[in-house]
Amino acid sequence: MTESRSTERGVIGLASGSLLRPIADRTPAVVRRICAGAWLDVSSLPARLRDPGRWNEPWQTFHNVGGGDFRASGEAILRQLVDIAGLRRDWRVLDIGCGTGRAAAPLAEFLAPEGGYVGFDVSRIAVDSCRRRFRRRRPDFAFHHADVANPVYNVRGSAAPEQYVFPCPDQSIDLVFATSVFTHLRLPVVARQLRESARALKPGGRFLFTAYTLIPGRGEPALSPFEPGVMVLDPKAPERAIAFDETLLRAVVAEAGLDVVEPVRLGAWLGEATYEGGQDLWLVEKPVR
Ligand SMILES: C[S@@+](CC[C@H](N)C(=O)[O-])C[C@H]1O[C@@H](n2cnc3c(N)ncnc32)[C@H](O)[C@@H]1O
Repeated sequence: MTESRSTERGVIGLASGSLLRPIADRTPAVVRRICAGAWLDVSSLPARLRDPGRWNEPWQTFHNVGGGDFRASGEAILRQLVDIAGLRRDWRVLDIGCGTGRAAAPLAEFLAPEGGYVGFDVSRIAVDSCRRRFRRRRPDFAFHHADVANPVYNVRGSAAPEQYVFPCPDQSIDLVFATSVFTHLRLPVVARQLRESARALKPGGRFLFTAYTLIPGRGEPALSPFEPGVMVLDPKAPERAIAFDETLLRAVVAEAGLDVVEPVRLGAWLGEATYEGGQDLWLVEKPVR
């Protein structure tokens, strides 16, 4: 969803047969992410030179949220929130793993003052950047730093991600979304975030998230087996990219008390896509009981 279709294929493609593979294998995941971010920053220079307003966009060397044009991919996320999840201007939204505000930027224009936005991320740099950039435009937007550990994104995080309580009261949110986040979390953390989302959502509220979904007959991903039903790009640093069996994801969605609303939309990362996005797109709902 957030990644361009070709970028997503490229990310997974790195696992197979790249000439740089032997060097990359010996480089810590954090360093690899910084180098990839620096490359994205160099690629962003033409757009920044054409439109001076874009110098205010965050630099990926400091916190890399993935490939594609920052503004265009943020606008694509907003379109999907509106077209697929039915987002309205007066809704309260929760952005899990908000990164440097790729979705918050178009949401700052879209959401009415009666609506609301809460985002959180494990990266202090990313959260500080959002607070700085949105303070004047949308003082009502809230950005929280979750100091939980992620071996790729917050190496020194002090708390366990399986215990993190989302920064919102019960039944206060109309729409939760997580773009390119579950592709970097182990299954118990995904399960926890689904349960917390169910708690935070109003009855009938929705959750749109992306994932790499393993479906029999879909194709062979360039990933390595890690645990039953789980494949990863790099077994030494699983959080770089993780894919789950569809059955595993359906089970944790159901355990959280959420319903899958429609068939998973397939992204371009593996074989034929059924929508305009790199990762697979899941829409789930908290039932009205
Ligand atoms: C590929 S980036 C995507 C960022 C953002 N969602 C976007 O689309 O621009 C993945 C994000 O997940 C964050 N992250 C990693 N572990 C997390 C966790 N346990 N809870 C919340 N965010 C997490 C990272 O810091 C990073 O900002």
